[in-house]
Amino acid sequence: LNYRHIFHAGNFADVVKHAVLTLCLDALTSKDKPLLLADLHAGIGRYDLTCEDAEKTGEFKDGVDLLKGQTLPGSLERYWSIVKEYGYPAYYPGSPLFLDAFRRKDDRLILNELHQDDSETLYRTMAGLKPTAIRTEDAYACLKSLLPPLERRALILIDPPFEDKDEFAKLTAALEDAQRRFAQAVFVIWYPIKPHLPLEKFYDAIANQGWHRAFCVEAMRYPAKTPDVLNGSGLMILNAPYPVPENAQHWTAPLKSLLNLYSIEFRWLSASV
Ligand SMILES: C[S@@+](CC[C@H](N)C(=O)[O-])C[C@H]1O[C@@H](n2cnc3c(N)ncnc32)[C@H](O)[C@@H]1O
Repeated sequence: LNYRHIFHAGNFADVVKHAVLTLCLDALTSKDKPLLLADLHAGIGRYDLTCEDAEKTGEFKDGVDLLKGQTLPGSLERYWSIVKEYGYPAYYPGSPLFLDAFRRKDDRLILNELHQDDSETLYRTMAGLKPTAIRTEDAYACLKSLLPPLERRALILIDPPFEDKDEFAKLTAALEDAQRRFAQAVFVIWYPIKPHLPLEKFYDAIANQGWHRAFCVEAMRYPAKTPDVLNGSGLMILNAPYPVPENAQHWTAPLKSLLNLYSIEFRWLSASV
């Protein structure tokens, strides 16, 4: 457990991830029925952009800072208002705070973080907000225990650090199991794009699991196959809520230009949409 998100908080990958999460949450909470909201790799919940570790990499300067003072399109307004509500520019909110921003009275929020110290920091971040269950277990064990949810509706964020070389294989197996337990779950899954990673195998495996409305968005910082750097950041959405994919052009085009991305592409993985 070496990964520390403070070095990357608010970078281009975080902005795209949290913007997509916001769009999905907005679509799902437009229906007046309770939801389970779960974050399997929650991190510490909020990141101090003025601290030495964040300053050391300065990744947020090439991410969230690029949105400052810009006229944002309607599709990104909610994302930006949450960023400001939870403390920007001093802090950048993590995924737990985006989930918190959308939760209604009958929604259930479960945050899981395996790193003991981070889990305790997360607990302190969430203190004072609505009651939240915080767990400190392996993400995929946590997932098993959540499905099927009592609410029969769920949005689950999977955002691993990909330190483990078998992460794609573990993720694929966990999703196969989740599909059997509750095929209607909406998943938002983050993955890195680098030349050596088995991405084609991952797409094929997910396409073969038979998910409905499997949709991918890939934000490229550099051209694919550029050695030694994170080329880009991917998000896979399973049971993608309407109209997030249908309106993709409206939010990918502004994100590409605001974040100075090399490209941002999207496509369906599943045959049935
Ligand atoms: C990319 S960060 C999460 C960022 C967070 N989702 C956000 O958007 O604000 C990944 C987190 O997963 C935690 N982690 C690593 N291995 C884990 C595991 N097997 N189960 C649960 N959490 C794990 C790390 O400690 C780290 O805090």
